[in-house]
Amino acid sequence: MGKNNADLSRPFLKWAGGKTQLLDEIKERLPDDLNADCKYFEPFVGGGAVFFCLNDLFKFKYAYLSDINEDLILTYNIIKEKPKLLIRKLKKFQKCYGSDEKDNKKLFYDTRDLFNEVNNINPYEISDKNITRASQMIFLNKTCFNGLYRVNKKGGFNVPFANPKNPLIYDEKNIKNVSKSLKNVELVVADYSKSLSLIDKNSFVYLDPPYKPIDGKKSFSGYTKLGFEDEDQKKLAKFCKDIDGKINAKFLLSNSKPEDDIFERLYSKFKRDSVQAKRFINSNGNKRGPVYELLIYNYEI
Ligand SMILES: C[S@@+](CC[C@H](N)C(=O)[O-])C[C@H]1O[C@@H](n2cnc3c(N)ncnc32)[C@H](O)[C@@H]1O
Repeated sequence: MGKNNADLSRPFLKWAGGKTQLLDEIKERLPDDLNADCKYFEPFVGGGAVFFCLNDLFKFKYAYLSDINEDLILTYNIIKEKPKLLIRKLKKFQKCYGSDEKDNKKLFYDTRDLFNEVNNINPYEISDKNITRASQMIFLNKTCFNGLYRVNKKGGFNVPFANPKNPLIYDEKNIKNVSKSLKNVELVVADYSKSLSLIDKNSFVYLDPPYKPIDGKKSFSGYTKLGFEDEDQKKLAKFCKDIDGKINAKFLLSNSKPEDDIFERLYSKFKRDSVQAKRFINSNGNKRGPVYELLIYNYEI
């Protein structure tokens, strides 16, 4: 029986490159034999739009979600383990955010300062300190410019206040649903390459790396201090070839469709579909139209 919409989970953060707009195209290209017993891997999880959607459909008995962003994984872990205590702190943020622009701005920058004061984060520790940090992360995400997570050279979160009028900082029901969805999930801070030793032939791997800019210029790739350059795209292609050739598991990868033919060359032996998607995170309003993206996979559909 289909699930009631009220029981579904969806991303609790806005995330650059979020895949909500591409879900239908992705669902059309899943392996025919995907089921609850398959191990699900998503090593660039970000906001998790694809995991939440697929897990609601398949109820994976095991999933591995990882990202290089410590604060992101810390927040997932807190939602998984302590949703109610987190909701209590988020309620306070929602209450404090009113109609006075000056007060809201102060709340934002004070919170950002507190957030940046903390070093040596342990993203796996379930403590009051980390519940507070997760609530700050969600508040900053919902009130900063375009929901970006960008850090300066010292690793400090530096996205400015966006002054939203009536932001929904959190959705209580969704936080609870997300917490349930994460029950069988291992949440790890790691470079994507670390997952290779855990993937077996019964695994399905969805990969959504930082996109290669389509116009040859710098676009948003500031998820981390290091960025994601052409060399990284090449290493990732090698990783996908290992999933395919060494492990014999299935993978699906999304990426941009840049002007050069880098992905045609790197993924020449795999299927490559060009699909249309709407991008929402772009600082230049004129560029918010449909763009073509690539879905690359190593199985028949
Ligand atoms: C395009 S976003 C993923 C968006 C996600 N699919 C969603 O729907 O929100 C790419 C993610 O990769 C992460 N990332 C960047 N470099 C990475 C690396 N070397 N290993 C693992 N994750 C990385 C970023 O922190 C970011 O969350």
